[in-house]
Amino acid sequence: MTLTHLPSSEFSIETSTRPSSDGDREKILFKPGFGKYFTDHMVAIDWTLDKGWNAPRIIPYGPLMLDPASLVLHYAQAIFEGLKAYQHADGSIWAFRPELNAARFAKSAERLGLPELPKELFLQSIQQLVGIDAKWLSQIPETSLYLRPFMIADESFLGVRGAEKVAFYVIASPAGPYFENGVSSIPIWVSAHHTRAAKGGTGYAKCAGNYAGSLAPLQEARKNGCAQVLFLDAQHGQFLEELGGMNIFIVYKDGSLATPALSDSILAGVTRQSIIEIAKADGRRVDERQISLEEVRTGLANGDVTELFACGTAAVLFPISILKSHSFIDSIPNAEAAKVSLSLRQKLTDIQYGRVKMSSNWLHKLTSAHH
Ligand code: COI
Repeated sequence: MTLTHLPSSEFSIETSTRPSSDGDREKILFKPGFGKYFTDHMVAIDWTLDKGWNAPRIIPYGPLMLDPASLVLHYAQAIFEGLKAYQHADGSIWAFRPELNAARFAKSAERLGLPELPKELFLQSIQQLVGIDAKWLSQIPETSLYLRPFMIADESFLGVRGAEKVAFYVIASPAGPYFENGVSSIPIWVSAHHTRAAKGGTGYAKCAGNYAGSLAPLQEARKNGCAQVLFLDAQHGQFLEELGGMNIFIVYKDGSLATPALSDSILAGVTRQSIIEIAKADGRRVDERQISLEEVRTGLANGDVTELFACGTAAVLFPISILKSHSFIDSIPNAEAAKVSLSLRQKLTDIQYGRVKMSSNWLHKLTSAHH
């Protein structure tokens, strides 16, 4: 049976016998960092070729039991998502555009030969988890609960083919700033040798392997004093793609923006899409097009390009301070003030935290004010 329209009541719930104490949780929520601490519960749902999706459940957060021959451990048949839940001033909790994450998850699944998780099940999963772990959200400014849905091939088999048994999980992690030390702008390393994704490859999918491939370049960036890597296109080595975990935007002196057009080698960021829509609603021109590194460097030199910024769910939005490679260092003169970048960041977070009301329905209510 494929549980396409499964009512939420069909989630079984096993509550944790050792939940965090109020004191421990408060300490964590005061300074959560990113991705270090996890809530008391998680969602698990199984899938087999025969039964389809089955046994949706909330269980205590804890280690997985995986057979060492599980396909995911050998051939990286794994995908994930990242989205955040925000507590508003009245105590209600909201997810930001989760249906976009559900849709992207389905696309990633298709590319990786994994089964599609119905959108309703994706949304119910986050609703169930946030419902039971709502205490992990606080009103501390700029904090949220980062939700990490993921799907892995947990069939024991060493032949190379799509799994006939997989599992879906959602874990949740309280989140503060993505970068340590409260940085306000980030230096970026332009990778000369490594690329992230090729035409026809998996670049647009949020699959584990894409991130594995970005780690050695990131180490190189760090050795060179940079926080992230800007990848250029694999074919020409000339055009901006993305940062591996974030998208990139250029700000021009006339207040317009440009960002690399989506392709099969760029992840369609939800923050990217939202920034485009917010900027356009603000009357700014936003071009999604091919952008060469050469063009950006010339624009920085002649003053046409005034700001650069990176954005993603985890990091939100950061002005870029420096573009650096083996052969050049360009500093962005307005990185400190970054007026346009920071005003877009403010508009985005005002919507996410419910400080301004939006007419479009970008927010999805997860719990009411009294939970
Ligand atoms: C996100 O912004 O959610 C990301 O995917 C970045 C990274 C933490 C993987």
